[in-house]
Amino acid sequence: MPRIARALAVLAGAATLATVAAGAATVDPAARGETLFHIGGCVNCHTAKGGATLAGGDPLRTPFGTFHPPNITPDPETGIGSWTLADFVRAMREGRAPDGMPYYPAFPYTSYHRLTDEDLADLFAYVRSLPPVQKRTPDHDLRFPYNLRFGLYLWQWLFHDPQPFVPDPAKDPLWNRGAYLVLGPGHCAECHTPRNWLGALDTTRLFAGNPAGPGGDKVPGITADPENGIGRWSRDQLAFYLKVGMRPDGDFAGGEMARVIENGTSRLADEDRLAIATFLLSLSPP
Ligand code: HEC
Ligand code: HEC
Repeated sequence: MPRIARALAVLAGAATLATVAAGAATVDPAARGETLFHIGGCVNCHTAKGGATLAGGDPLRTPFGTFHPPNITPDPETGIGSWTLADFVRAMREGRAPDGMPYYPAFPYTSYHRLTDEDLADLFAYVRSLPPVQKRTPDHDLRFPYNLRFGLYLWQWLFHDPQPFVPDPAKDPLWNRGAYLVLGPGHCAECHTPRNWLGALDTTRLFAGNPAGPGGDKVPGITADPENGIGRWSRDQLAFYLKVGMRPDGDFAGGEMARVIENGTSRLADEDRLAIATFLLSLSPP
């Protein structure tokens, strides 16, 4: 009898160990999604100054009119509480609502489509873990013909290729991690690249800067061009800027970039900032 008891005790102990190991391997997806949420800058558009997190943002003025970023809290009526993961993946990758209607590219799905399936699932888990807020946001106020949403079917056909990120096997993992963060969740090109007259990114001048960025601000180039870019910055100076917002000349980042740093890049791991800097400094001027 004692022998059986001992055997049972050993078995029970093994089971406990197995549970602990499994627990350690499956880090909470919502915790992983939090990093993507920060670098994705969802708060910058979907949270009004002084308002509840993700319950709808301040008006977003563009040459096409004013957008009112919607409530994306898990409230089932006024937010995205009734969405499935498939609905979320479709919105972020294809730029389509659950009913199939196209979204305006003011929602930067034109970059977010590069997130991997796993990262989209983690990001969704994190967004779903935030408190639901019941609040309706106003309709967008756009000029004709931009107010005709079905025109976006043509726009997406012309300009949107909803593929996830494909790593470059010729480059090392740090470079690829940086490319992924910059081109995907970080959506850095959305401000740092000029746009054509239909509001699509001019991919022949990627990261060359934008004379008419958000709110009409001039956005500097961030390729390795020493004149119209950051070619004179060292990798550590760039990583430091993304952490605390101070440029090599001692000036601090202003405007939209201050928010990108505060809500986004400052909350990343040092390794991720180094990855971003490695990728940007590898970009030759267009
Ligand atoms: C630059 C501003 C901006 C950023 C950053 C942004 N969004 Fe949005 N988002 C918008 C706008 C504007 C819309 C409305 C688009 C439309 O009506 O066609 C929108 C719509 C959405 C929708 C559709 C909601 C609905 O009710 O149909 C989802 C989901 C969404 N965003 C998720 C996110 C997530 C997650 C992030 C962060 C990873 C994010 N957004 C970052 C501007 C932004
Ligand atoms: C919402 C628009 C926006 C987004 C998104 C954005 N930036 Fe910026 N960025 C700016 C603006 C505006 C400035 C100029 C800031 C200033 O005047 O101090 C800037 C400045 C910079 C600079 C300094 C350039 C210089 O010459 O001073 C770097 C580096 C930079 N951004 C990197 C990034 C990276 C990396 C990302 C993506 C993680 C990113 N930015 C996303 C708007 C943006």
